[in-house]
Amino acid sequence: MRPGGIVLIVAFCSFTAYYIYEPIPEEIEERWKLMLTNSFFRTLSHLADLSELMGLKDYMGVMYAITFLERIAPVSDEYVEVTEETLDGVEVMLYQPKQQRGNADLRRAVIYLHGGGWCLGSSRMSPYDLLARKIVTELNAVVLSVEYRLAPAHHFPVPYEDVYRVVKHFLQMGVLARFSVDPRRVAVSGDSAGGNLAAAVSQQLQKEPGQKIKLKAQALLYPALQALDLNTPSYQQNQDMPILPRTLMVRFWSEYFTSDKTLFRAMMANTHNSPETSKLLKFVNWSTFLPETYHKDYNYSTPAVAQEVEVRVDGIDEPSRSFADPRASPLLVPDTHLYSLPKAYILTCEYDVLRDDGMMYATRLHAAGVEVTHEHYDTGFHGALMFTVWPTDFLIARRMTANYIKWLKENL
Ligand SMILES: *[C@@H]1O[C@H](CO)[C@@H](O)[C@H](O)[C@H]1NC(C)=O
Ligand SMILES: *[C@@H]1O[C@H](CO)[C@@H](O)[C@H](O)[C@H]1NC(C)=O
Repeated sequence: MRPGGIVLIVAFCSFTAYYIYEPIPEEIEERWKLMLTNSFFRTLSHLADLSELMGLKDYMGVMYAITFLERIAPVSDEYVEVTEETLDGVEVMLYQPKQQRGNADLRRAVIYLHGGGWCLGSSRMSPYDLLARKIVTELNAVVLSVEYRLAPAHHFPVPYEDVYRVVKHFLQMGVLARFSVDPRRVAVSGDSAGGNLAAAVSQQLQKEPGQKIKLKAQALLYPALQALDLNTPSYQQNQDMPILPRTLMVRFWSEYFTSDKTLFRAMMANTHNSPETSKLLKFVNWSTFLPETYHKDYNYSTPAVAQEVEVRVDGIDEPSRSFADPRASPLLVPDTHLYSLPKAYILTCEYDVLRDDGMMYATRLHAAGVEVTHEHYDTGFHGALMFTVWPTDFLIARRMTANYIKWLKENL
């Protein structure tokens, strides 16, 4: 082989090693598999940055490839009937059990909201399809997986409103009867951004005048619950963790509200609060709501507050109000809005920037008297639940799925 070839091979190998190797905490199981999996995400993210820089396609447009690659056309099988429906103008994938039942046997239902930072993801991705089928077969329940519209094409509140419309429409006697669903046994659930939407609709529904049918439960899987303090200990500790580094989460948050990069930069620096939003910082004070053991060496400091004028000059006046809207940041409500919420299941992972969002909500709901089951995974990482499909299948995903479904079985 000519020396030039060797140089190329060495360059290629070190380039690959640079891309694949990254320090991942020893406690995480199947570390090498996670490293390989994440190298795909990192490469894609770098390509997306490059593409945006070169003016080819915007960042989220390239990242959407993840959704695209895992997209399938869900079909009925021996046990589950799958149909595409439109509920009040919003697309949903409807999963119903084929199992025989007596006339009097009403079913439970789960309204499921996929993750993907409000910008990515689809109910038609194979991990979501698999999860829906599992819920249907193990609970003999109906699953409604909502295909809400995504940012940046549709900024807040569109994704939230799509979900809310489906929930409102479904929770009517006539509609529930059509699907043989027991009106006392409907839950809303979702992972990551889907957990955010699930928490938000649970709160808003209880304020709806004349709403007779209520949700029985909310199951929030590593949810994003607040955009006010993006420097909690978990954001600091896990800023470079696989799957969801801090930069990506901040990107998701800012893109949910606006494509103006000013908000992204302000959120990166955690200086996006205005005098108005800073009044709500007390609801996300981790020094108060985070269990002591998770404080570690981190010291609480109040996020900086930009002056009103500066905010307006930067053109982020409008979004600076939206990120403090409880429909986007469900943690930002007083206790009086919490006590009558449906019982909750909250899953958190140690190696996740969103860990403290879930933990603070668990603390606050519990203090308000809501029945909360909080499951924390000491070796968990963000998005783990979705890694159930070969070759990126992880043992922890199986445990999480089993525990989550067990909770639904016992509590819905
Ligand atoms: C957060 O809590 C700490 C201690 O509990 C307190 O000193 C601080 O003033 C609080 N800050 C805000 C913004 O609530
Ligand atoms: C927090 O404060 C303590 C005491 O002042 C200091 O030793 C520690 O390094 C600080 N932690 C961080 C993460 O800055």
